[in-house]
Amino acid sequence: MTEENHENREGFVLHGAVVYSKDPRTLMAYDDAYLVCVDGVSMGVFSKLPDEYADLPVEDFYDKLIIPGLIDLHVHAGQYQYRGIGMDAELIDWLNDYAFPEEARHSDLDYAERAYDLFVEDLYVGPTTRAAVYATIDPDATLGLMDMLEDTGLKTCVGKINMDRNAPDYYIETTEESLEMTRAWLEAVGESGYRNTGAIITPRFTPCCTRELMNGLGELSKEFGVPVQSHLSENLREIEWVKELEPEASFYGDTYERAGLFGASGRCIMAHCVWSGEEELALMKKNGVFIAHCPESNINIRSGAAPVTRYLEMGLRVGLGSDVAGGSTTSMFAAMRTAIFASKLRWRLMDQSVRQLTFPEAFYLATKGGGAFFGNVGSFEKGFEFDAVVIEDEPLRTMRKEKGAGERAERVIYLADDRHVVGKYVAGRKLF
Ligand code: GUN
Ligand code: FE
Repeated sequence: MTEENHENREGFVLHGAVVYSKDPRTLMAYDDAYLVCVDGVSMGVFSKLPDEYADLPVEDFYDKLIIPGLIDLHVHAGQYQYRGIGMDAELIDWLNDYAFPEEARHSDLDYAERAYDLFVEDLYVGPTTRAAVYATIDPDATLGLMDMLEDTGLKTCVGKINMDRNAPDYYIETTEESLEMTRAWLEAVGESGYRNTGAIITPRFTPCCTRELMNGLGELSKEFGVPVQSHLSENLREIEWVKELEPEASFYGDTYERAGLFGASGRCIMAHCVWSGEEELALMKKNGVFIAHCPESNINIRSGAAPVTRYLEMGLRVGLGSDVAGGSTTSMFAAMRTAIFASKLRWRLMDQSVRQLTFPEAFYLATKGGGAFFGNVGSFEKGFEFDAVVIEDEPLRTMRKEKGAGERAERVIYLADDRHVVGKYVAGRKLF
């Protein structure tokens, strides 16, 4: 290619060790490679820089490790202040004792601004480049959070939570209020000019949402063309409760399906799916629903351990969620290693018909698996949006001489934290 061909293209090259997923089994690892970005899109990874890119500026990271930006498919910004505490209860009590009181505080916009600021700053410096986020029921505080996230350059979907039943009087909406506020919020998002931040319809979960609310949210999702996120089959008591509340539904997921909130007419993320039955899984597969696997949360609030390798083998769409504050940290390194721990204990203690999660599979879930929700995201294959994280792993000292890039990436997910993230790019834009 000649010089002229590059005239209108904006591009650059990163040089370093590079690791990315092609599929759940195949981790591509280069000890010394060139990663090319043109117009925000990856042109691929090369051992020798092709001539056609020779005129692009090269940023040399020498021996640092470059991986795709990590994707958090499920995180509660409105629960960030109590992360790392309150792990003593199961889901329903935990919601009443911790989640609802804390989320309610965000209706004080001054509190919300300070609280969300901590969440956003921490998300910014870590390895996450994209996230599906829950705010709280307050639409103004949710818009404030979206403004802050927009400014970071991270790509996020943010949801104003809806709940019109089975919630305390200090943290509940009427059905009409909930739908009206959601419509006004969606209109405000439409007028905001956001480039990095989008709205996502967020019924909290079936126990907190009447049929009328769910139906209305299904219509809003279609009308505004926005995706949906919720919780599904997380906890056994929750599942029994849904059966009592919605006896006509064939299974828990059917309560969303009946309202058009289960992926048939747009993108959809369901968190947890620890206890999903065959019918539910079949419908998720048919509708292309994304499962946000949240292993740390599932351990902390004693929900269980989802058979995640089975979901992968069935060809379901799966990514990882930190689920703060059921999970203690937004670190997706932690989510990856905990997914592996949980799968091993599940295998050992519960069910040897479902094998453990491997390291390449965990890496896939946190990158390409969850990234698919955002489009061509989560890999460095040609045509993928250019999200990259640069990791300084020298401090994770070892005498091993034979360490290759793949082994280094494995050590990173066990030992690294936000401090080791020294560079971040989202859709080709350098954040730091
Ligand atoms: N189910 C309904 N709400 C929540 C929540 O905030 N966290 C978790 N983990 N599960 C839920
Ligand atoms: Fe959650």
